[in-house]
Amino acid sequence: MENVTVVEHPLVQHKLTIMRNKDTSTASFRRLLQEIAHLLCYEVTRDLETEMIEIDTPIQKMQSPALKGKKLVFASILRAGNGLLEGMLDLVPSARVSHIGLYRDPETLEAIEYYFKAPSDIADRLVVVVDPMLATANSAVTAVDRIKRRGANNLRFLCLLAAPEGIKRFQEAHPDVPIYTAAIDEKLNEKGYIVPGLGDAGDRMYGTR
Ligand code: URA
Repeated sequence: MENVTVVEHPLVQHKLTIMRNKDTSTASFRRLLQEIAHLLCYEVTRDLETEMIEIDTPIQKMQSPALKGKKLVFASILRAGNGLLEGMLDLVPSARVSHIGLYRDPETLEAIEYYFKAPSDIADRLVVVVDPMLATANSAVTAVDRIKRRGANNLRFLCLLAAPEGIKRFQEAHPDVPIYTAAIDEKLNEKGYIVPGLGDAGDRMYGTR
């Protein structure tokens, strides 16, 4: 699929299998999501530019590569995005963080914003939007719309699981935003859940229902 990277690393797939299992505990689910986030973060940052800087090792001076340009922004779609965000920040602790709170209007099923914070200079930064489940893509599309309105023009979307319907809708709305995921599942069911999926990611992460 064009502009979609499926991270088929054996560790990612193994951890995802445990997360899908309905008998996996809340504590394990949360820890595994954080661990998978490390591996997905590794992939989504694979092509970041570096530049040579001069440092002193205890032995001598040397030119050594360091990340070039402004710090990244990780944009978490609340609340489930925060599970991925934690792991991403473990790998890139200096990243700036944006939070986007959306709820689904029960009548129209539209995603409505209730919270938004982002760095003011987001236009100069790579923004990685994170949400574990790309299902209908309503919230992903709305979140990316919102971040683009703030000025962002260099974005990636990172999730754990994607439905083909969600990928299609997201790509129609934001063809310029590459998607990174650990797996593409079969379909959405009538309630908008990913099948076979892993259930409600937020509920499984926080032990709510
Ligand atoms: N959100 C979830 O948490 N799970 C799904 O299957 C779909 C959307």
